[in-house]
Amino acid sequence: MDETPKIRLVILGGGKGGTALLNLLGHLPAVEILGIADKNPAAPALSLARALGITVVDDVVHLIAKTETNLIVDVTGDPTIKAIITAHKSLGTEVLGGAASKLLWNIVQHDAQMQTKLFQTEKLASIGTFSSGIAHDINNPLYLIMGLAENLLDETDTTRRREQTNDILGAVKRIATICQNLTHYARQSTPFDTTNVELNGTLDEALTIAHYATTPKDLSIVKDYANNPVITAKPEEMLQVFVNLMTNAIHAMEGKGHLTLLSECQDGIVRVSIRDTGCGIPQESLEKIFDPFYTTKQPGKGTGLGLHSVKTIVNKNHGQLSVSSTVGQGSNFQMEFPSASPT
Ligand SMILES: Nc1ncnc2c1ncn2[C@@H]1O[C@H](COP(=O)(O)OP(=O)(O)OP(=O)(O)O)[C@@H](O)[C@H]1O
Ligand SMILES: [Mg+2]
Repeated sequence: MDETPKIRLVILGGGKGGTALLNLLGHLPAVEILGIADKNPAAPALSLARALGITVVDDVVHLIAKTETNLIVDVTGDPTIKAIITAHKSLGTEVLGGAASKLLWNIVQHDAQMQTKLFQTEKLASIGTFSSGIAHDINNPLYLIMGLAENLLDETDTTRRREQTNDILGAVKRIATICQNLTHYARQSTPFDTTNVELNGTLDEALTIAHYATTPKDLSIVKDYANNPVITAKPEEMLQVFVNLMTNAIHAMEGKGHLTLLSECQDGIVRVSIRDTGCGIPQESLEKIFDPFYTTKQPGKGTGLGLHSVKTIVNKNHGQLSVSSTVGQGSNFQMEFPSASPT
């Protein structure tokens, strides 16, 4: 066990800087955030802090004066705050403000941008592996359109012409929906904008995309959803997490089996499980599956970055990821997040 004492810090300022610091430091075991202060009750970091169980105050002086604090991080951008800190802080408390806190903010920003790029690259690579599923789903309506259009050339009956034109429109709309789903999934997320994400809707959307991972599709899907599970995260990233886990599950079942999607809300925690009846993971591999580039798939079928991205995104959103698996029976990937709404 790590016996190193934690760094106890307080954050002054609940704007973008405060949000970035919470996102960066909120899940580090070596750091304890004693509180965050902002005069503006609508400051974005405050709702995130509440979801994480961190004390939120509007009285800066109260927070500055806390004797147990090791470090005050000032990201208010307010030039008058320096004097207030000097007047009220305890002797042993250090202060990170001005240019030093700006430097930290820049490093955090750079790190977030690099991570966003990595997630995007992983996502685009995974879309490549869906290509045969996508081609299959586009081909069916395409052949239907071709057949109907050929019929139309010789069709003289107006009612029949109308029916066939409507069938063509239906098939075109199906193709348009596939393109829309993919464009939405391929969209890059912005570095810092977290929002409330309703997870049942995200699970459903992910399932539509993950279905492209296989043809034929002999899957039975069981959905067992809680009422309105909401967490604070980036919608695009949560979609990526679920698509990755469902794609893995579908691959493990070789397109055949039961996929169970579960969401639960209890005591301020939102739990999501994605369970399959696939090949399972041997005990000795369970530690390796989250390593970057670990894959048991053939070259060109997987990069081995899927679960690494999943774990990074889950932890970044103050969640925990766990897996249980039995070879020959299946696997269960479970996530727990702080709820963004009272449960
Ligand atoms: N549900 C599952 N059932 C069985 N094995 C799994 C499951 N999920 C992951 N694995 C194993 O973990 C490995 C790593 O998964 P990961 O998603 O990181 O990479 P990948 O699926 O191989 O490639 P990609 O980068 O395209 O996702 C897989 O190759 C597979 O061996
Ligand atoms: Mg994968």
